[in-house]
Amino acid sequence: MLKKLGPKPYLFPMPVLLIATYDENKRVDVMTAAWGGVYGEEKLAVDLDPHHKTFANIKLNKAFTISIADIPHLKEADYLGIYSANRYPDKFDRSGLVAAPSEIVSAPVLTEFPITFECELEEIVEEEKDAHVIGRIRNTLADEKLFDESGKIDPTRIQAFVFDTFQNGYYAIGEKVGNAFCDGNEIAKKE
Ligand SMILES: Cc1cc2nc3c(=O)[nH]c(=O)nc-3n(C[C@H](O)[C@H](O)[C@H](O)COP(=O)(O)O)c2cc1C
Repeated sequence: MLKKLGPKPYLFPMPVLLIATYDENKRVDVMTAAWGGVYGEEKLAVDLDPHHKTFANIKLNKAFTISIADIPHLKEADYLGIYSANRYPDKFDRSGLVAAPSEIVSAPVLTEFPITFECELEEIVEEEKDAHVIGRIRNTLADEKLFDESGKIDPTRIQAFVFDTFQNGYYAIGEKVGNAFCDGNEIAKKE
């Protein structure tokens, strides 16, 4: 029996992303975002509440970075999603995290996180309650420790975790269960 829930964007998993920006005094702000993802070949999109300091900062600098949060920094990622720089201007300093200027865009890079996308603002689509912020990825940074012997990124080394929109949980990513563009062939082979 399938229940009808109405038009809910109930995807699972949702990513845990950290959006880093500079404010008007070049002070670092970072917020957590789960409503975000890939938007075409070289773009990412995030849904932001326009009241967030991050939104004002993105409009100001036309740039931001997005890092994938990892389990070793789960508490910091959650903290950055609870407190706003509108109320706590020293929010980022209190997090204990480290940021360095991006060489490409006018935004900070969180140097301790495994993967970071350096984005320039492409477009903002404002709706009644939220704004869709689309960033063009100018460069992607990946920690060298992520690469295995084959020279490819081993996703388990990212130590990413995901957000559950149903009960506000954080989940580790489980074991590998298959091979994409491969396992489905078994069905085609059936007579
Ligand atoms: C797990 C998690 C996911 C979140 N996802 C989003 C999101 O996708 N969009 C959004 O506008 N706020 C999201 N938030 C809330 C903001 O991170 C939070 O309001 C933050 O304080 C805004 O910071 P700022 O005002 O310094 O930019 C999320 C919070 C958490 C804990």
